[in-house]
Amino acid sequence: MRPDPLTFLSRELDTLKEQGLYRTLRVLEGEQKPKTTFDHRQVVNLSSNNYLGLTTHPLLKERALEATRRLGVGSGSVRSIAGTMDIHMELEQRLAVFKNTEAVVVFQSGFAANAGTVAAVLSKDDVVISDELNHASIIDGCRLSRAAIKVFPHKDAAAARRIVSELPAAQRKLLITDGVFSMDGDLGALPALCDIAEEFGCIMMVDDAHASGVFGRNGRGTIDHFGMHGRVDIQVGTLSKAIGALGGYVAGSRALVEFLYHRARPFLFSTSHPPAVAAACIAALDVLEQEPQIIERLWENTRFFKSGLQTLGFNTGLSESPITPVIVGDGALAMKLSDRLFQEGVFAQGIAFPTVARDKARVRTIVTATHTREELQFALDVFAKVGRELSIL
Ligand SMILES: Cc1ncc(COP(=O)(O)O)c(C=O)c1O
Repeated sequence: MRPDPLTFLSRELDTLKEQGLYRTLRVLEGEQKPKTTFDHRQVVNLSSNNYLGLTTHPLLKERALEATRRLGVGSGSVRSIAGTMDIHMELEQRLAVFKNTEAVVVFQSGFAANAGTVAAVLSKDDVVISDELNHASIIDGCRLSRAAIKVFPHKDAAAARRIVSELPAAQRKLLITDGVFSMDGDLGALPALCDIAEEFGCIMMVDDAHASGVFGRNGRGTIDHFGMHGRVDIQVGTLSKAIGALGGYVAGSRALVEFLYHRARPFLFSTSHPPAVAAACIAALDVLEQEPQIIERLWENTRFFKSGLQTLGFNTGLSESPITPVIVGDGALAMKLSDRLFQEGVFAQGIAFPTVARDKARVRTIVTATHTREELQFALDVFAKVGRELSIL
């Protein structure tokens, strides 16, 4: 028998086990809800990105079922061959109106939208100037583009400006930030970065994955929140988080979108969404327009829970959004905290290096509009108990 050439993988897994960083996948038995069952245990769920509870909204379910009955379960092709259905075009038109841009192109995921777009727009003679905490999909897109990558310290617009000002004027530059940072819940330095982009002629790009459905009027995102309409050339959003289904999109000029039709590799080489997904996303936009009170509920719950954690004495970093980290530093301690919370009925995922810096391990909490006050108070009580037990408080 030939020796297994993958034994090094088992050794790496053993190392993770020794470090207390080995994770098994938690299995959700039922719907993605604020109180639900993972691994046979009923828990208050503080780990989903289902900000508005739309994964189980009756209108989204009904429209998805109707689209499946009428159009089938799959699109049968990539967008650029036979897989552009009228329901995909309808979704893109609705999103363009929502985002106040000329056009939108939908990708299979937010990851594909970021990676596919950065890699298509830039090439090896160009340079990208990127916040150090930008999402992995941006980092991968930068690498795929083969452009030079310059990283500025988190939210440090002055440092970004210094980097940009030292680059040759004629070089093509992309300045890029997350709208909301997914591990810390703080907002990108958008207004200051837009000023820099205008001063030095950079392309300005924002990944608003965690802002869509959360910030701005009816959940239009951080560009709307900061009043930056017309100043961001490439806006990425996701349909997988607050929108409740799956997908990502790029909003911008008609030329940008048509260019991505021709050059974005996930668009060209991966099959488009099933009609049910597009139909559910269109329904979600209807909900955002017709039920803006769910966004207000999300923010009421956010204020309640965040201030509760802070009053208990946890380090919640600089979060400004429904994502609230509980930063404990050591990776093994974060995993232990997450495990003990789970045993006591609260699911908050532990996050350690390499997702966050080695000394910034944490559990991450995300409240939703659909949590009840009782559920959130229960979670706070459990945090208090376990925090004391592990000498974090
Ligand atoms: C900031 C950010 N951008 C993009 C993505 C990718 O979005 P999707 O889950 O739709 O692929 C994520 C999801 O983890 C994210 O947190």
